[in-house]
Amino acid sequence: MKKPLRIAVVGLGTVGGGVLKILETHKEMISVRAGREIQIMAVSASNKTKSRDFDISSYEWVDNAAELGLADNIDLVVELVGGSDGIAKVVAENTLKAGKSFVTANKALIAHHGAYLAGLASDNKVALRYEAAVAGGIPIIKSIGEGLAGNKITKVYGIMNGTTNYMLSQMERTGRSYDEILEETEQLGYLESDPSLDLDGIDAAHKLAILSSVAFGVKTDFENVYVEGIREITTRDIEYAGELGYRIKLLGITTYEKGKLKQRVHPAFVALDEPVAAVMDGFNAIAVQGDGADKCFFQGRGAGEGPTASAVVADLIDIARGHMDEAFFVPASKLVPAQPVSMTDHLSSYYIKLHVAEAAGVIADITAALKNEDVSLDQMHQKGSEEDGSVYVVLVTHEVLESSLHKALKEINNLPVNLNDAFAIRIENL
Ligand code: HSE
Repeated sequence: MKKPLRIAVVGLGTVGGGVLKILETHKEMISVRAGREIQIMAVSASNKTKSRDFDISSYEWVDNAAELGLADNIDLVVELVGGSDGIAKVVAENTLKAGKSFVTANKALIAHHGAYLAGLASDNKVALRYEAAVAGGIPIIKSIGEGLAGNKITKVYGIMNGTTNYMLSQMERTGRSYDEILEETEQLGYLESDPSLDLDGIDAAHKLAILSSVAFGVKTDFENVYVEGIREITTRDIEYAGELGYRIKLLGITTYEKGKLKQRVHPAFVALDEPVAAVMDGFNAIAVQGDGADKCFFQGRGAGEGPTASAVVADLIDIARGHMDEAFFVPASKLVPAQPVSMTDHLSSYYIKLHVAEAAGVIADITAALKNEDVSLDQMHQKGSEEDGSVYVVLVTHEVLESSLHKALKEINNLPVNLNDAFAIRIENL
């Protein structure tokens, strides 16, 4: 058998613990599969003495994680700290520059610095792997980069954030408000330490930017991902969506056509018979559209100890086997700069919710505003009167330019009968 692959693990939280547990529990099986042993040499974290449900006493403790990549007895560093910069980036740079491979679950790091780090890995002829950074236990990076390598891929979309999917599912099931479900989700410990990453779509945008690079061979371009989160979704919207034959999902969608990259994360109405609509709770789902394989659909757990550690260990086994493929499956020097497309020219049909006073001519005023901007209606439903005499009006538009829709909504918001700003959600034909 070949010499062991000697690794160090930085970050001993839930995922770090999961990785150590899998490597110890499945030691024999992993050695056989990898063709060599994967040996944990050293660990590092912010707190050595914190109580943990796994034993680290047999590994060397290193206070300064930045030094791990430089140690002679380490072949590879696993980073499970998180954050796009700070210690995670330092460890990545030091490790790759020292000619050692680097494995991470850090979506922010790869979304922000993917092309740069891929270049470092390439220059130093080592591997950079990040399967765990996107959709946890779903092996989506390898599936696209290897399994679908013969396809020209034009679109990747799906549910990339389990926490918000859980929240939307719970709002639908219980009819309870966003704020109540948010509180419950927080108590369950599902939210990122900065909840905005989940709630405002940033976490999903990180994953989407990575998928764009893997699928299309473009440099990671997180800055140009269009992002909306779920904070404005109400149970009323979820209920109206159901009545119209849709379910609201926070989707990440990336398309690459004629050299133009459109990356967007936003809530969307998804038809109930679309597979992604059936993916509930903390699950993630990713669909990949290739010209040969057609649409491939992947579903699984996107977070948590087991799923995320499973992906990290798969990367370790891959490297132990000697697979040193380029990080984004094309030479780093061949990654092309992304040419982002603005959403202004985006075409979509929309669900629009209006809250207006009940008065003669209200509908006429609304339709006049839509007509002025060339927004064509497919459906209009006036909901029953509220106790205060106001009414909700639901509109479904035909396809319209995003810029025209915004102008029409502005006109509607300025109507004297309007009680709350109009709220619009794109209807996605996937
Ligand atoms: N906050 C993320 C999610 C964790 O909810 O999907 C996994 O990246």
